[in-house]
Amino acid sequence: SNDQIIMGIETSCDETAVAIVRNGREILSNVVASQIESHKRFGGVVPEIASRHHVEEITIVLEEAMKQANVTFEDIDAIAVTEGPGLVGALLIGVNAAKAVAFAHNIPLVGVHHIAGHIYANRLIEELEFPLLSLVVSGGHTELVYMEEHGTFQVIGETRDDAAGEAYDKVARTLNLPYPGGPHIDRLAHEGEPTISLPRAWLEEDSYDFSFSGLKSAVINTLHNAEQRGEIIEPENLAASFQASVIDVLVTKTVKAAKEYKVKEVLLAGGVAANKGLRYALENRFSDMEGVKLIIPPLSLCTDNAAMIAAIGSIMYEKGKRSTLALNANPGLDI
Ligand code: KG4
Ligand code: ZN
Repeated sequence: SNDQIIMGIETSCDETAVAIVRNGREILSNVVASQIESHKRFGGVVPEIASRHHVEEITIVLEEAMKQANVTFEDIDAIAVTEGPGLVGALLIGVNAAKAVAFAHNIPLVGVHHIAGHIYANRLIEELEFPLLSLVVSGGHTELVYMEEHGTFQVIGETRDDAAGEAYDKVARTLNLPYPGGPHIDRLAHEGEPTISLPRAWLEEDSYDFSFSGLKSAVINTLHNAEQRGEIIEPENLAASFQASVIDVLVTKTVKAAKEYKVKEVLLAGGVAANKGLRYALENRFSDMEGVKLIIPPLSLCTDNAAMIAAIGSIMYEKGKRSTLALNANPGLDI
């Protein structure tokens, strides 16, 4: 048939994921084996444990994805795999699985960028219109990415220290909440009020960069000082105040960039896109902005998955990108 069938493989962090996507937009299967339970007791992702789980899971997840999509290797036009950024040992499992399948079945191989994948999760919801701006907020990244056309990415702002998700996870740890802390802070924030004054790092007037480490330290100091004075701080109010600060900066800079770059669409991407407060604030700010459409993927496509990897793989394959069997994991890959 004339359909394009792409297999996506994602193992950059703690999810082993394989998906089959038709014509770049239609999910035939999207299988994710999460390792969160294994990392929880360590309060974060342990690279060695992640790699070991990926090795154990990858074949099972791959077979399950093909079974659910009802495809054989002969149906697959290309294999797209996350080559970076991420944990090197974790990335290697996906890259080597992709190379093995590509070699054994003579299928073209396309290495793709994890963040480009997060952005393309949006194309599984709606066809993209350019120029567009994407706010990428995950455990490892906080970036504003401008796109003039398919497959070209211009980072106009990025974090200078902690990623937004990283700040959530660290603040959660100080409040003795389980890993990953983002969803717990989100939930607590909705039960409290932003009564505690916390800093917002706006940086230079014309900068779209972010910084969250000062905010994280302010939260820790606030708790520490209250403890020394024998005062009690409601964790709900601290979570609400922290979340208000993060969202204020993210949304204000996104709105400013959307206007300056005169974009048609604003896309939300990455694990922190699951944040209810952030989704609500963006919907609020963009609902009355004429000519700008806001797209927010459902939660299952915001966190790490392989359908998004197949979605960007589809575009890169169409653009003629091919990786050789020398493809390697690249933990510091640029978008
Ligand atoms: O994109 P992702 O699944 O993995 C990376 O590539 O980093 O993002 C994971 C991050 C974690 O830091 C997690 O705490 C955060 O996304 N996260 C949230 C929420 N759900 C997940 N942060 C804030 N609010 C949430 N509801
Ligand atoms: Zn991710």
